[in-house]
Amino acid sequence: MSRWKRVLIVLGSVAAVFLAAVGGLFAWQWNGAGVSTVGQVRFDNELRVPPLAESTVEKDGTRVFSLRMQAGTTEFQQGLKTPTWGFNGSHLGPTLRAKRGEKVKVLVENTLDEASGVHWHGMHVPAKMDGGPHQEVAPGKTWTPQWKVDQPAATLWYHPHPHGKTEKHVQRGLAGMFLIDDARTASLKLPKRYGVDDLPVAVQDVAFDGADFDHGRRSFLQNTGFLGTRTMVNGTLDPYQVVGDELVRLRLLNASTARIYDFGFGDDRDFTLVGTDGGLLERPQTLKRVQLSPGERAEVVVRMRAGEKAVLRSFPQGNYGGGFEQRFAGGDDSFDVLELRAAAALRKSPKLPSVMGALEVPQEKDAARGRFFGLRMSGINGRKMDRGHVDETVVRGTAEVWTVRNEDGAPHNFHVHDVRFRVVLVDGKPPTGMLRGAKDTVYVPGGSTVKLAMRFEGPADPDTPYMYHCHLLYHEDQGMMGQFVVVEKGQKEGTPASGGHGGH
Ligand code: C2O
Ligand code: CU
Ligand code: CU
Repeated sequence: MSRWKRVLIVLGSVAAVFLAAVGGLFAWQWNGAGVSTVGQVRFDNELRVPPLAESTVEKDGTRVFSLRMQAGTTEFQQGLKTPTWGFNGSHLGPTLRAKRGEKVKVLVENTLDEASGVHWHGMHVPAKMDGGPHQEVAPGKTWTPQWKVDQPAATLWYHPHPHGKTEKHVQRGLAGMFLIDDARTASLKLPKRYGVDDLPVAVQDVAFDGADFDHGRRSFLQNTGFLGTRTMVNGTLDPYQVVGDELVRLRLLNASTARIYDFGFGDDRDFTLVGTDGGLLERPQTLKRVQLSPGERAEVVVRMRAGEKAVLRSFPQGNYGGGFEQRFAGGDDSFDVLELRAAAALRKSPKLPSVMGALEVPQEKDAARGRFFGLRMSGINGRKMDRGHVDETVVRGTAEVWTVRNEDGAPHNFHVHDVRFRVVLVDGKPPTGMLRGAKDTVYVPGGSTVKLAMRFEGPADPDTPYMYHCHLLYHEDQGMMGQFVVVEKGQKEGTPASGGHGGH
C-alpha cells in the first residue's frame, strides 16, 4: 500500500467515527427533546384563583392599587419550599380590575435586592407609565404610575420588564392579570363571576430540581430559552377546578417565558372563542384549538355536562417553521394542563350572544404609512436593543401598517406596547380563528410574514420610548427589541436616557 492510501484509510475511519459520534449525539438530543404529560397528571391540587386586588378610591375618583414585589418561598410540591418572587405574596400576584374611563394609580414597591419594575402588558398608557426598561424601580424604591383606562374590556397582564433580565424575573414568579371591564361586558350575557364561572388561567411551564426551580436548558440545540417539563396554572401544579355552571369562561394567558401552547380539550370538544388580547371578538367563534405564544391571551367558553370531567390540554403543533425547530423548540410537546370537574347538577347559563360589537382597531386603508420589521435572534432589522436609540418615530393619532417577517426560522412572536392591532394578512391571506380579534402579541413562525394595522394615540412624548419585541423572553433579553416614540406632527424624536432609571 502506498503511503497516501494508508493516510486516506486512517483519515476515512477518523471521519466515520466522527460522523457516527455526531449522529449519535444528535439522536440522543432528538430523543431527549420531546416532553409529554398527557395521561400522567393526577390533578390532585385545587386550582389557586388569584385574589382580586384591593383598592381604595381617592376624592377625584382615582382607583389606587398597591403591588409590593417581594421574595419568599412557595410550596408547589408537598413539603418542598421553592424560593420564589411575587407581588403581595410569595408567588405571582393578585388580579387587578378597573373599568374603562376610570383613573388608576398603582404603588409599585420593590423590596427585592435588585432593580425590577412592572409593565402593563396590553394597556394603553403614557410612555412614562409603561413600566418598560426606562422605568425600572430600584431596590427599596416605590414607583407610582397613573393613567386613565381608555380601551375596550380585555384580559391584560402585568410583569417586570427590566433591561436584559425579564426572563429571570418572570420565571421567579412576577406576573399577574389586569382585567378591564366596560359597558359592553356589563350588558352582554357572558359568564362573569370571577373564580366561579369566569376563571383566570395563567399557564406557565416549569421544571424542578428538588425544591428549586430548574431553569436550565434541556438541549444545547434549543434556541428559545427555557422550556419546562410540566405546566402549572396560577402557580398550581396538577390543578383541578370544580365548576357549577353549564358555561365556564377561561381567561387563558400564556405567561410562560418561551413555550408556545396549542390549547384544546382532551376529548376534542368544541369551545367558543369570545375574546383575544385586545378584548371581545365581533362575534363568538366555535373552535377546537387556540394557539398561544408567550404573552398572548384568549377568552374561551366551554360547555360542561353535569358530573363530567374535561381536561384542558396543549397539543403538539406543526407550525414551527421546520422539523428541527419543532422538535427542539417544543412543537412536539403536549401537556395536560387543567381538569374541570362539573358538579352533579349545574346551574343553567344564558345563551352566549351572537354579536358582541365592533373591534376598535384600524383597517389597512386607514394607515398613513407602513414599516417593516425583520425578526432575527441577533436583532430586529439587524439592530440589537439600545436604550439610548430611538428606532422608529410615529405621529400621534395616525394609523400605520407594520409588516413583520421571521427571517431566521427560530420561533418568534411580536408584541407592541401601548397599542392593539388588527392582523390584516398572514402570509398574504386573511387571518382566521383567533387572529381575527384585536391583538397586541402575535406568533410569527419561521418563514412567515404578518401584516398588522394599529393606531398610535399617544400622548406624544419624544423622549420616552415604548418597546416592540419578541416575547420569548430569552430572545427579548438578548436584544430582540426596539424602541419607538410617539410625537406630534412635525416634532422630532428626542434622546431617551440610555440607563433605566428615568421613571422615578
Ligand atoms: Cu409583556 Cu414588553 O411585554
Ligand atoms: Cu407589553
Ligand atoms: Cu424570538
